[in-house]
Amino acid sequence: MTTQPDPADDPAARLLERVRREGPVLPLPGGVVGIFSPALANKVDKINSDDLKVIDSLADVLGMRKSEPVTWREVRALLTERSGALVTPGQMRALHQRMQAYLGEHTGSEQDLTKLMWRTVSRALIPLAIDGIDGRDLRTLIAEQELRFRVQLEQHVPLWRRIPDFLLHRAATRAITRQIKQRVARGESRDDFTQPLLGLVDRIGVDRVTYLVTVQMIAISGVPGMMAACLVYAMSQYPQWREHLQEEMDALEWEELYTLPIRKLPHTMRFIKEAMRLWTTPFVTRRVAQRDIELDGVSVRKDQIYELSSYILHHSEEYWDEPETFDPDRWLSSRRQEAKGAYVPFGFGPRSCVGASVGHAQLVLFCAMMARDFRCDLSPVHAPWMRKEGFAVPTDFVGMVSPRPR
Ligand code: HEM
Repeated sequence: MTTQPDPADDPAARLLERVRREGPVLPLPGGVVGIFSPALANKVDKINSDDLKVIDSLADVLGMRKSEPVTWREVRALLTERSGALVTPGQMRALHQRMQAYLGEHTGSEQDLTKLMWRTVSRALIPLAIDGIDGRDLRTLIAEQELRFRVQLEQHVPLWRRIPDFLLHRAATRAITRQIKQRVARGESRDDFTQPLLGLVDRIGVDRVTYLVTVQMIAISGVPGMMAACLVYAMSQYPQWREHLQEEMDALEWEELYTLPIRKLPHTMRFIKEAMRLWTTPFVTRRVAQRDIELDGVSVRKDQIYELSSYILHHSEEYWDEPETFDPDRWLSSRRQEAKGAYVPFGFGPRSCVGASVGHAQLVLFCAMMARDFRCDLSPVHAPWMRKEGFAVPTDFVGMVSPRPR
């Protein structure tokens, strides 16, 4: 078991206190500028994103080729549209089946529930990021996801791991490139996030499209799985909410759930919203300024780093009553507060999550699966707690998942 840190040592709490005392724009260590007002964060990010381009490939940098610059805005538009189009009953059924199959194979023994839920959710997303990969290449992508999980949790890579980790990243890059080349050569079309990017191959080359797919792989390997672990943690800590979810979910057939009937799931929606407020991940988002930005008291020089934080916004007393309390009913329309753009679980406007439609749909299905099909019994010798270092991680969260008796 791990030792819980003293709440007085919580860096996020200290930063919140500074924002309360000194205001939303703060100088931070290392010359970083902290911007902790929702309106300012969105304005600065908008200016900064306008110029953002997809990075040059090595061939471009070495002057071996001159590819056309592609704006990040264009790539985001392709992916955001795709995310909406991927939320179909067919895709949701397949996503549920993949999560169900993985979890079903890992029932009946006590284990680290954070890791189990993270694996259930992140592996199930691989075919949505890039479909058609199997055999050794799939094992490589899964191994790379495990690496990313480890680095996220440990936040430190020992020297001896650097070469094997580098080789694994390189193998994963090759697996993605192989799939892209094969699809382009055969003119294959698949329902995934990679498909709209294939139209860019002629303009920017395979290596930069591989980079864009790798960005998706990074995005699906962290936050969605951690959020799922937080949801199971919330079900275990607030059993009355688990019961609400179970009642709602039991009243529906799976085929209906695949159409995501959110109006029939009011408790589930509030429960997810509140978990995403309280344990939003990551706590901090850092950007490099693409140009000098002077605006409403914010001054950032080109190449300087500025920091935004959904965590600070979600925990500020300026926007929420009792922000540290898990209270899904705060989202009832009768009680809803004017949060003034301070609820940003999918990040900030022009750089917000392009996979939000798929991500949110998956969390609904995940709740349905955990409430309907499985039960979770926590280990009596562990006392779970929420570690908050850069992101929220249910810790000492040990238990056994079993099929729910009907
Ligand atoms: C519950 C699930 C998810 C949550 C909570 C989530 C949350 C986030 C957050 C907080 C950011 C950072 C936004 C910012 O920098 O302001 C982000 C970025 C991103 N997410 Fe997600 N995400 C989820 C699922 C997904 C999925 C399924 C995909 C699909 C591939 C995805 C793709 C991306 C990409 C590509 C970015 C980078 C956008 C950019 O830099 O312009 N996310 N996500």
